[in-house]
Amino acid sequence: MALHSGADARVLIIGCGISGIGAAQKLIRHGFRKVRIIEATSRSGGRIQTGGLDGKIVEIGANWIHGPSQENPVFRLACQYQLLDGECMSEENQSVDIGGLPPLFSTWLSSSGKKLEAEVLAPAVEVFMTLLKKSQEFYHSSRAPMSSVGEFIKREALRISNKEWKDDEAKKIRQAMFSTLLKLECGVSGTHTMDDVDLEAFGMYKSLPGLDCTFPGGYEGLITHMMNELPKDIVLFNKPVKCIHWNNIHNSQAQQSSSKQGLCPVTVQCVNGETFEADHVILTIPLGYMKRNHATLLNPPLPRHKLHSIQRLGFGTNNKIFLEFEQPFWDENSEVIFLLWEDEYDFPDPVSDMKTAWIKKLSCFTVLKPVERYGHILCGWIAGHESEYMETLPEEEVMHTVTRLLRRFTGNPTITPKKLVRSQWYHDPYTCGSYTYVAKGCSGQDIDNLTEPLPLTGSKAKPLQVLFAGEATHKSFFSTVHGALLTGWREADRLISHYNPAPKKITAHL
Ligand SMILES: Cc1cc2nc3c(=O)[nH]c(=O)nc-3n(C[C@H](O)[C@H](O)[C@H](O)COP(=O)(O)OP(=O)(O)OC[C@H]3O[C@@H](n4cnc5c(N)ncnc54)[C@H](O)[C@@H]3O)c2cc1C
Ligand SMILES: *[C@@H]1O[C@H](CO)[C@@H](O)[C@H](O)[C@H]1NC(C)=O
Ligand SMILES: *[C@@H]1O[C@H](CO)[C@@H](O)[C@H](O)[C@H]1NC(C)=O
Repeated sequence: MALHSGADARVLIIGCGISGIGAAQKLIRHGFRKVRIIEATSRSGGRIQTGGLDGKIVEIGANWIHGPSQENPVFRLACQYQLLDGECMSEENQSVDIGGLPPLFSTWLSSSGKKLEAEVLAPAVEVFMTLLKKSQEFYHSSRAPMSSVGEFIKREALRISNKEWKDDEAKKIRQAMFSTLLKLECGVSGTHTMDDVDLEAFGMYKSLPGLDCTFPGGYEGLITHMMNELPKDIVLFNKPVKCIHWNNIHNSQAQQSSSKQGLCPVTVQCVNGETFEADHVILTIPLGYMKRNHATLLNPPLPRHKLHSIQRLGFGTNNKIFLEFEQPFWDENSEVIFLLWEDEYDFPDPVSDMKTAWIKKLSCFTVLKPVERYGHILCGWIAGHESEYMETLPEEEVMHTVTRLLRRFTGNPTITPKKLVRSQWYHDPYTCGSYTYVAKGCSGQDIDNLTEPLPLTGSKAKPLQVLFAGEATHKSFFSTVHGALLTGWREADRLISHYNPAPKKITAHL
């Protein structure tokens, strides 16, 4: 009997990020024997990438487990592999729900080199957080009054500040704080401007309880442990996939050679000319890559409505710039240092002269903790087109510009970072950005449609030839590691239940 056991089904997973690895892990546990992963680069992990700065660990990609609590599969795996500090695993910290508030110990510096008082800025932070929360509520309740999160927050922030802080001399600086927080939110969302993020769909993203935590030994340790559970040689590295020929239209030779098993519905063609046959392909490549390469990636091409969703969904850039210092210039207990441009009280348009002003998009630095592990390292956050431009500059120029920025904001002309490391996700040819957001005009339907396997339901062709996983295909956890992992498991489950249909309900007395 042909192909009624998953054991002999040939499954090719494209992409060795956490979603691809998760899919392979689950299939193999359920008895699938012919599973392979094809990866473009020479490494596994994708957007989980641990790097080094002077012998210390820094995360070039994912940094936190967002919402480390029992519902989070990344947290459960990390506990199982014993990769976390005890504090992170305490019941107490698992139930913390910070609701997106910035850390307690913030420092605020202004473009005229002044340190600003927490009491002056706290009201602005509070208003901003309330508006962010309100933005999320439109998804569950009413029609949104405008189309983007940016427009809504700016309108409300101005209205409230004009009303509440009318004659207050702190009004301008608080409005500048809104600008800084909007830039930070661009990084969180992975977009150029919050004006591009859909207000009605913003609340689709769900946060889990738990105080975000990091991997003391690096996020890639998780990948190493997962890979160790897979058969050796399951991954074919350095093999970028060029085209997935489905519905059997590629070459008839391939069909003949596999005639024993019935017709082989999919042929995967790599850039180097190699081809691989499969019954099922699980595509986990980033949305950024799909946007750029959809025209050549599938043959026959993607159905129109799927293509439109790929085009409509957002995929922006968020980068980090790590700086190491001999001595800290910040307070010992500072966790984050915000930068406020005093002239940005009226929400200026995005930077006009990229060459001279890209650095204005850098919203804040987080301080790497604990000191015993990292020494004195800051991580600067920069999103959007300015971030993409930064990637093209030589490292010395980035170093020079960031040094000038710090000297200006601290008023200390001697500050000199020792070393610098940055991420360059936009120019990574197999990622093309950082992560997914719901762009203006998008809805959950776009993610559903992106996820729908090929051929579409109703077709008479062999089912489940091309399946779609990866961060972008999770409706409430897109842009995260746990979202990515869950989508890999989801597509593995789709195949598992295809080959092992759930038994018909058995009545009690049998
Ligand atoms: C700067 C940054 C910070 C982040 N911080 C966090 C965080 O703190 N917490 C969090 O939860 N998430 C974070 N994320 C998001 C998280 O890293 C991703 O959502 C997750 O790792 C995506 O996994 P994936 O398997 O979907 O995709 P990926 O990890 O991108 O894997 C896809 C794989 O496909 C490969 N590929 C692409 N094209 C081809 C091709 N043509 N042929 C073969 N292979 C191909 C790629 O090389 C890659 O290995 C961050 C991301 C970035 C960029
Ligand atoms: C919770 O986390 C914080 C910050 O990491 C830590 O200081 C604290 O000790 C943790 N709480 C418990 C009960 O472990
Ligand atoms: C999703 O796909 C269906 C067809 O399967 C289509 O009718 C619908 O308009 C699509 N939705 C979006 C948002 O593209």
